[in-house]
Amino acid sequence: MAEEVEIRGGVAVITGAASGIGTGLARKAIALGMKLVIADVRADQLDAFAATLDGEVLALPTDVRDLKAVEALAEAAWNRFGQVDILFNNAGVMATGFSWEIEPERWQRSMSVNVDGVLNGIRAFVPRLLEAGRPARIVNTASVGGFLPAPLMAPYSVSKAAVVALTESLHFEMQMIGAPIRVSLLAPGPVKSGIFDDPFGPHVDPAARGFVETMRGMLTANGLSPDEFAQRVFEGLAAGNYWLFPQPEAIDPLFERRAASIRDRATPQLLNFSEL
Ligand code: NAI
Repeated sequence: MAEEVEIRGGVAVITGAASGIGTGLARKAIALGMKLVIADVRADQLDAFAATLDGEVLALPTDVRDLKAVEALAEAAWNRFGQVDILFNNAGVMATGFSWEIEPERWQRSMSVNVDGVLNGIRAFVPRLLEAGRPARIVNTASVGGFLPAPLMAPYSVSKAAVVALTESLHFEMQMIGAPIRVSLLAPGPVKSGIFDDPFGPHVDPAARGFVETMRGMLTANGLSPDEFAQRVFEGLAAGNYWLFPQPEAIDPLFERRAASIRDRATPQLLNFSEL
């Protein structure tokens, strides 16, 4: 078992920190006495958010699709604070529509941000964390969608399933080499955020429009606030959990149904999002 990471006085790096879940994680980390490195592709929004935080914060506009930019982020984190204790690979985007109609660029963007973005975080930070030789945590954000594929958001389901696999591979690799780095897979259920603010390409299918309205309504009605969500994430981290499912009450029945479907070779049934 790796030793526990330093929280108070430690350093957290959060990608996609200018909105939604990232802001909740940032506020919680500051409240716990952590120093922060926050990154987002939206520079203005990132700076405006950084100005609201009362603590030691380095805000660096970063596109997680760009490995060099993520390496520069890691470099800046060590230059400023001399250590990194928790890395949240949190940035992610949504794309909706029928699989065959979603424009190739939007498919690619989902894969680049959601998968390459996490991989770039791993590439840039793991060698430095190994060299530091201190206990550290890497938290990769997938989604319950990475376990429960849904219609009309295939790029999201596909990319998040990849994050589920990548994270578990990384976990085993850390174990194999005896690294003091623990890995966690974070799978949010509904959280109030901007994730459905820009889900369409130039072609908007009526089915996708209806789906997005349903999802927005579900987030408004059932979504946790980013702060409540972050509270649960840090509780899971303190417990040393690999699986971070902060909303088990919403997710577990759906997992059970899916596991039974595979076990019984039963054709998958359409997920009812109002159950989330
Ligand atoms: P959000 O849209 O409010 O925040 C995502 C942030 O990522 C935004 O600030 C955006 O500018 C940033 N971002 C997008 N592309 C980027 C890039 N190339 N480089 C750097 N930053 C980039 O959405 P939310 O919900 O806070 O999303 C955070 C994570 O949680 C994502 O990975 C998302 O897929 C995941 N998630 C969210 C759920 C929800 O209900 N809100 C449910 C399941 C997973």
